[in-house]
Amino acid sequence: MSNTAPLKDSTLFSPLRLGPSELRNRIVMAPMTRSRSSQPGDIPNQAMAEYYAQRAGAGLIVTEATQISRQGQGYSFTPGIYTEAQIAGWKLVTDAVHAADGRIFVQLWHVGRVSHTMFHDGAAPVAPSAIQPHDTQVWVVGKDGVGRMVDCPMPRALAVEEISEIVEDFRQAAANAIEAGFDGIELHGGNGYLIDQFLRTVSNHRTDQYGGSVDNRVRFLREVVTAVTAEIGADRVGVRLAPYITFKDMADPQIVDTILYAAAELDKLKVAYIHLAEADWDDAPTIPEDFRHKLRSVYAGRIIVAGRYDKERAGKILADGLADLVAFGRPFVANPDLPKRLRENLALAALDGATLFGGDRRGYTDYPATS
Ligand SMILES: Cc1cc2nc3c(=O)[nH]c(=O)nc-3n(C[C@H](O)[C@H](O)[C@H](O)COP(=O)(O)O)c2cc1C
Repeated sequence: MSNTAPLKDSTLFSPLRLGPSELRNRIVMAPMTRSRSSQPGDIPNQAMAEYYAQRAGAGLIVTEATQISRQGQGYSFTPGIYTEAQIAGWKLVTDAVHAADGRIFVQLWHVGRVSHTMFHDGAAPVAPSAIQPHDTQVWVVGKDGVGRMVDCPMPRALAVEEISEIVEDFRQAAANAIEAGFDGIELHGGNGYLIDQFLRTVSNHRTDQYGGSVDNRVRFLREVVTAVTAEIGADRVGVRLAPYITFKDMADPQIVDTILYAAAELDKLKVAYIHLAEADWDDAPTIPEDFRHKLRSVYAGRIIVAGRYDKERAGKILADGLADLVAFGRPFVANPDLPKRLRENLALAALDGATLFGGDRRGYTDYPATS
């Protein structure tokens, strides 16, 4: 035990203002797809409300990625936020979290090319360019009810008018989020999904105003952020970015500079936070300290970090001033009262990898809290 532990504790467990929300600590529940929405219709339900309310001890919960439209879906049973039934389902979730005095943002995504024809009535998924991602699969449940991983097919390139329609879908989804009672939204701009596909030279070969120069590749993100901030206020909007991921065929030598450029744009647009996805599963490259300093110098809002953090690393990055909040993903699955366990140095339960996606309450709402 290091002798600086009390200082680290006071940072991780001290309250923080984030836009209009007063957070009770600096611990964020990271967005995690669990594929348990009700069918048909990808509708949030009572079990999801219970699951999130159990984890309301986090300063902030960011929900699982939630599609802004049918076109934006790429995996089975992920929830949407574009129908009345979905908005009503999310109200169950936000009410339950607020009743437990928690704060909750919904993560909005459009998956772009990381999808399958089965979500598009047999047609190709859409993308900035018609470039098929190698070694990239999505989880789909067929008519036989069996879930399996399938390769992402060749997408088709979006027409310019269609890009404007997707920006409008994001704006409408943000409005729906507020109607559903969320404290704010997080745009999923990382992990190889549509916004990330526009940012990267490997997935964006467009020759119009959405491709080529850094500014052009950032344009789609900027348009989406401009639309959602006009709708619900910049202080209710966060953006997740993943500068160092390479999976889903996204290794782009220019991405770090592109993301720093995007961060400077997000600073002008005054979004509440940038959330760095530093790891997805075990793909966790070390982020150079230099990048963290550069990010601080171009972006004045809050910074959340996520990716294989434990109490020690979390305390250190906060104490070093290189992040304001730390998100925990997998530890929150099996430890609904994770903040209490971290604060009191209690043992952490291990998660059951077999029950992560789909299924019933087992491995979902039945992990016990400490008494
Ligand atoms: C089951 C599971 C589902 C995930 N789903 C999402 C998601 O919907 N959106 C997202 O941005 N990241 C997603 N992630 C990544 C996490 O948000 C987080 O960045 C990652 O788990 C690393 O943090 P950890 O080491 O604390 O788990 C997911 C991770 C896991 C384990």
